[in-house]
Amino acid sequence: MVVVRSSLMSRRTAQKFRQAAISAVGSLRIKLLLFLCFVFTLFLLASLTPSFLGWGQQNLPSASIDRTSSKGYTLLINTWKRYDLLKQSISHYTSCPGLDSIHVVWSEPDPPSDSLVKFLNHAAKSNAKDGRYIELAFDINKEDSLNNRFKELKNPITDAVFSIDDDIIFSCSTVEFAYSVWRSAPDTMVGFVPRIHLINPSKENGYSYIYGGWWPVWWTGTYSMILSKASFFHRKYLRMYTNEMPASLLEYVRRNRNCEDIAMSFLVANATGAPPIWAKGKINEIGSTGISSLGGHNIKRTECVNRFVYEFGRMPLVPTTVKAVDSRGTWFW
Ligand SMILES: *[C@@H]1O[C@H](CO)[C@@H](O)[C@H](O)[C@H]1NC(C)=O
Repeated sequence: MVVVRSSLMSRRTAQKFRQAAISAVGSLRIKLLLFLCFVFTLFLLASLTPSFLGWGQQNLPSASIDRTSSKGYTLLINTWKRYDLLKQSISHYTSCPGLDSIHVVWSEPDPPSDSLVKFLNHAAKSNAKDGRYIELAFDINKEDSLNNRFKELKNPITDAVFSIDDDIIFSCSTVEFAYSVWRSAPDTMVGFVPRIHLINPSKENGYSYIYGGWWPVWWTGTYSMILSKASFFHRKYLRMYTNEMPASLLEYVRRNRNCEDIAMSFLVANATGAPPIWAKGKINEIGSTGISSLGGHNIKRTECVNRFVYEFGRMPLVPTTVKAVDSRGTWFW
């Protein structure tokens, strides 16, 4: 009897154990499934956060610009007899939310035509958002000099200047991103086209430095200049460029019709003792070529770098490998 009972008991216990084991495996599966759901939800939330919090991906920059404490930026656009490009780029940039005013640097013998002025004024009015008025001014220069590009603005409204060539277009979100980078370092140049000065080991031609175009930057990830054809800087540098730069240096730029952008990089680096900041952004070149930005005319530029070192009495440029990237465009962190 006892034996039978005990074997009956043990059979029951074994069955209970088996059931318990089965339900344990079942709950483990459910837990695993829940965990996976949790991870997936986290992933989904992370990718949707801006809209999840009520900010549209596109609206974020404009929403973050508090126009009472920050007045946006002034577009300083350099142009030369390419009216279609000028129309195209101004029509585009007037649609950017942070744009406050436009200064066209005009160095042609004839003043801008009435129809051009009319077109651009219309673009500034019709593209302006929220009924904001974008001021459009032409800085008419008698002499055709690259130094015109950095003349002090007569009615500066904003501290931030966005200096741009007429044949380059960046999306508004890219511009606003660079603007936000500049606001965290307003003494620094922030822009999209980095260049580097290299030490010349052989010192051939007596040059201590070599101007490095895009490829050395690409290869080493290092840069020490941001070209003014697409960059943000403080308007005080315009005053310093015109009034505090050695006259012989300005004369050199005027005569050689080159390197005003390198001179500006020297000026800012000399004033800050710090490197500029390269902001990530996709360039759309709307002009005919795109070759000059990839290299070529570097011998003249090398000459400029060495000449400017002589003028400044030292090499002020500071190399860096830092690059500012919009974290929303990077995966997870
Ligand atoms: C470079 O910086 C020094 C020290 O701040 C200043 O005295 C000098 O005038 C600057 N040079 C130029 C060309 O701006």
